[in-house]
Amino acid sequence: MSFKALMLATAMSGALFAATGARAGDLTVGFSQIGSESGWRAAETTVSKAEAKKRNINFKIADAQQKQENQIKAIRSFIAQGVDAIFLAPVVATGWDTVLKEAKEAKIPVVLLDRDIDPSGKELYLTAVTSDSVHEGKVAGEWLVKTAGGKPCNVVELQGTVGASVAANRKKGFEQGIAGASNVKIVRSQTGDFTRAKGKEVMESFIKAEGGGKNICAVYAHNDDMMVGAIQAMKEAGLKPGTEVLTVSIDAVPDIFKAMAAGEANATVELTPNMAGPAFDAIVAFKDKGTVPPKWIQTESKLYTQADNPKAIYESKKDLGY
Ligand code: AHR
Repeated sequence: MSFKALMLATAMSGALFAATGARAGDLTVGFSQIGSESGWRAAETTVSKAEAKKRNINFKIADAQQKQENQIKAIRSFIAQGVDAIFLAPVVATGWDTVLKEAKEAKIPVVLLDRDIDPSGKELYLTAVTSDSVHEGKVAGEWLVKTAGGKPCNVVELQGTVGASVAANRKKGFEQGIAGASNVKIVRSQTGDFTRAKGKEVMESFIKAEGGGKNICAVYAHNDDMMVGAIQAMKEAGLKPGTEVLTVSIDAVPDIFKAMAAGEANATVELTPNMAGPAFDAIVAFKDKGTVPPKWIQTESKLYTQADNPKAIYESKKDLGY
């Protein structure tokens, strides 16, 4: 290589390296987070902060305390501050068009994290980092059909927040998963709002309505926190979750592995709390090189059962908070 070529190559690689580093360091990203309704949500907030720090990104989080109106206010405030990008975990799927149009007019890219909005809003965000939540429900349903093994099985379902994309999708997916098994049927279904307290309260009412719980073969919960509440309700009613009553839920938070290790829960489908990592990478590449990410960055969903050494998984996750 000639001296001139060497100098050019050195300058170019230096420029590229410096440009990426400088851009990430220069970026300010605002995150409109739903709140802290579940262990998974708290873990997502913690992980997002760590991922921002790793990339030296200035990161501002607004906690909406479960209210869409607070999320809309936060987005408007981020627009007024002139942030470089906005992350949004939408509490419900509808009602975003106006505020997302405002972000678009201000040329601020929006990335959806962990939940979707209605397809009518597709043009209003850059990309969505989410799991396939229909698939999660389907995996849970198929596991139950296999585990029930042809025996009649009445299921009670604890749904997530009404209007949230993940609640509708996890319901739909589970119904698909059990569709071919006439022995497995959902006998009661109600929202527990993704919280432990509500999961417990609704499970208590299911138990009362179903002959003290003796008619319940399985509980399907749209998240682990509601299942932890339901397990408590079953134990207080003298039932044996994990043996007499099968359980399957979604998230894979440490406490469900603790319950699985104690034989009080059976299965969970993992949802990574690291949605922000891929979102930051997409924003940095977009800002730095104009790279347009795919419309959907899909995260993995993996089923864990008691056969997967839940005690070891609990030990490895508990200090990290997820
Ligand atoms: O949107 C993801 C869901 O929201 C998680 O499964 C649940 O725990 C959270 O509250």
